[in-house]
Parts: sequence; C-alpha cells; structure tokens
Amino acid sequence: MKPQPIRGTRDIFGEDMRSFQHVVNTARSIGLRFGFEEIATPIIEFTQTFKRTLGDTSDIVSKEMYSFEDRGGEGITLRPEFTAGVARAFISGGMTQNLPCKLFSTGPLFRYERPQKGRYRQFHQVNFELMGPKEVEADIEVISLAAMLLDALGIASKTELELNSLGDDESRAAYRDALVAYLSKYKNDLSEDSKQRLERNPMRILDSKDETDKKITADAPTLDEYYNDTTKAFFADLQNGLTALGIRYRINPKLVRGLDYYCHTAFEFTTQDLGSQNAVLAGGRYDKLIGMMGGTETPAVGFGGGIERMALLLDTIPAAPRPIASVHIGEEAEREAQKLAYHLRSEGFTIDIAYNGNPGKRMKRANKINAIATLILGEDELKSGSVTVKQMDLGTEEKVATGTLLDWLGRV
Ligand code: HAM
Repeated sequence: MKPQPIRGTRDIFGEDMRSFQHVVNTARSIGLRFGFEEIATPIIEFTQTFKRTLGDTSDIVSKEMYSFEDRGGEGITLRPEFTAGVARAFISGGMTQNLPCKLFSTGPLFRYERPQKGRYRQFHQVNFELMGPKEVEADIEVISLAAMLLDALGIASKTELELNSLGDDESRAAYRDALVAYLSKYKNDLSEDSKQRLERNPMRILDSKDETDKKITADAPTLDEYYNDTTKAFFADLQNGLTALGIRYRINPKLVRGLDYYCHTAFEFTTQDLGSQNAVLAGGRYDKLIGMMGGTETPAVGFGGGIERMALLLDTIPAAPRPIASVHIGEEAEREAQKLAYHLRSEGFTIDIAYNGNPGKRMKRANKINAIATLILGEDELKSGSVTVKQMDLGTEEKVATGTLLDWLGRV
C-alpha cells in the first residue's frame, strides 16, 4: 500500500499550486492597497481562545476542532479560523494603541468536517481584520475589498453577495425571546441538535440543514422585525454605501453565520458552481469579541475567503513561468554551462539544466518544459567564446558572443 495523506487533507502542487498562489498573491496585493499589513499568528493556540469566542454551541467548537493536550498538560487547538487568533495577537501585542489596525493573514486552518469537493479538513484562507472603527465605513471598505478581490480573480460574476444585519445587543435580545417563544411550540419536532440549541443559541436553528427544522423555521419570526432604530440606521447606511460603490447584494434575512461573535453586518459571497459548498468568502462585524477576550473593547469587522474554493472557480490556471533551457554537449562544456547558468540565475533568469541524456533528449526536454529559449554549448561554441541561442517559438538559431548574452537575452 502506498502511503496516503490523511482524509480531508491534500498535497498542493503543479497547477493546483499555481492557482493557489495566484489567489494568495492577488489578495495580498489588493490588501496592501487598502493598507493591510500581514500578520502570521501561530497555528496552535490555547483551546480557550476558540472555545469561548466562537461559541460552545457552534459546529466548529462542538464537533470540528482538532484539540489535544500537549506534553505539559495544556489544552491546545489547531486553529479552525483566523479571527480569534488575530484578536488574541492584537491584545497580546498591545496593538490597541494604534488604531485603526488592519491585519491580513493567510495559512492553513483545520476543521473536522465531512470532506467533499471544496470542503477539506485542512483548508486555507486569506483573511482580513479591520480593528478600531465603529463606523459603517469600515464595513463598506471591507466588503469592497472582498468584491475587488473576486473581481481581480475574474470570478465575481460567479458569485452573489448575500447580506444581513444581526443587529445590536438590544435587537438580538428582543428577537431571541420571540424566536424561542415560536420554536418552543414545535419543540418535540425539532432535530436533536436544534433542541439543544433552543436554550443556548436559538438563532443557530435558522441555519439547520434538517428538513423538518427547515419547515418549522420557514414561518419563524425574522430578525428584521425586531431591529431597533440604531440597527436600522446602521444597516441602511451600509446598503447605501455599497450601492454608491456599485456593489450589488441580496438581503438574506436567514444569513446568521456559524460563529457567535458577530453583530450588525453579516455577509457571504456565495456561488452556485461548487455544489453544496456555496460560501466562497464570508465575514462580518464583531464589536464585542476583543473585549470579551480581555482586551479593551474595540469594534472590528473582517472576512475570510476560502483559497481552495476561489481557486476552483478560476477560469484559467495561471501559466508556469517559461524557463531558458541549457543544453551542453561534452564534458568540458558541462562545466562552462554550469558557470553560465549560475551567472544568468544571479542576474534573475530562470535556467533549466538537463542533467543527463544525449543532446537530442535534452532538446526534447526543452520543448517539454515549454522553454522560451535554449542555450546550446558545445565544442564549437567553447572555442569561439559564444553560445548558440535557439528561440523556441520562432525556431531560429543564432550564435551570440558570451559577453553580450545578458543583453541579448534581456531583449528576448
Ligand atoms: P467561515 O464562514 O467559517 O468564517 O469561513 C470563511 C470561508 O472559509 C468560507 O466561506 C469558505 O470559503 C472557507 N471554508 C470554511 N471551511 C472550509 C472547509 N472545511 N474547506 C474549505 N474551505 C472552507 C470564518 O472563518 C471567519 N473567521 C471569517 C471572518 C473573519 N469573520 C470576521 N473576520
């Protein structure tokens, strides 16, 4: 039996890696334009960092975390998301003094989910957190960053922005009471998961995939009926701001998100092209999280985008860079070719040396790797201090003096 990767994890290489890198590089460069600085937090954190913040009844905390006790007896968890870790870093690093604080992160995350297309147990996100502003301008800016990213990747037309407001504490408390009163009438028919949530986190029932739950919640009161004036004004300003930027959205009153820390803005860019894994990029406002974790209360808003899902939506796989192939004929030429390759690489060129095979085979390899040019170095060339350069697309060959080669290649 060949050794296999763990279920839900995969090796990323070749075309997959190029698509993956394209998503990360695009996100990083767009983030820079919005003033985001990169932060790399540890992959492991104390379990408490996630447990309290994401919510005990969330799927992530109740079923999906990779948690273990380390040799020192500490409860440790592989990060299932970025927000709690970045908020922890914001507090530990004393960044509270320097607001607004805009942090970009990328890397692996771990959730013990049922693997399928676009859903893995080790997956990757590009993640943006904007901490400091309570103003709706921050929500607009963060959503516009997400929209610009999807646009730059050429996948915006395959996605739709779904938007909701989870309201402030007062609106949510009023709604919670109304929802519990309604759902209690159907208590015996609810799924086991939903029964559990009825007391602890009834809003999560709206997100249930269970068919009976769905029928019951279809007629449940909706949060918007309980918005107070502050919530209404904030949500209206958000919509006006997005409209002014030409960003289209659909209001989805059922969008509650699977994590407990959100208030006001909740959003997801969804797609029809990935089967049941329809969320490509998702986030919202989380004004209470940093205070709850022991920091000075600091409002914040952000989102995480699934790299694998964005990569799957790309229309074209970014091409591999075209190298220059080096083909030498004879032992003496081999040493010269190594020297030349070293020199050209130090000047920034990508050089591929075939290690073995006759010159014919080496030329074949140059074709196979899609070389832009091939440098041929044999006895004749050595004698005359030159290199034969074959331009692969044109099929033309030309002898070039070694001293002028750099100049010549710069023009190819
Ligand atoms: P999330 O909705 O849990 O939010 O994840 C964000 C995105 O990560 C999803 O929309 C999806 O594209 C991707 N994703 C999630 N789980 C998987 C998986 N198992 N396999 C592949 N891709 C997946 C958060 O993580 C929040 N921390 C986002 C946020 C940042 N909110 C505020 N700031």
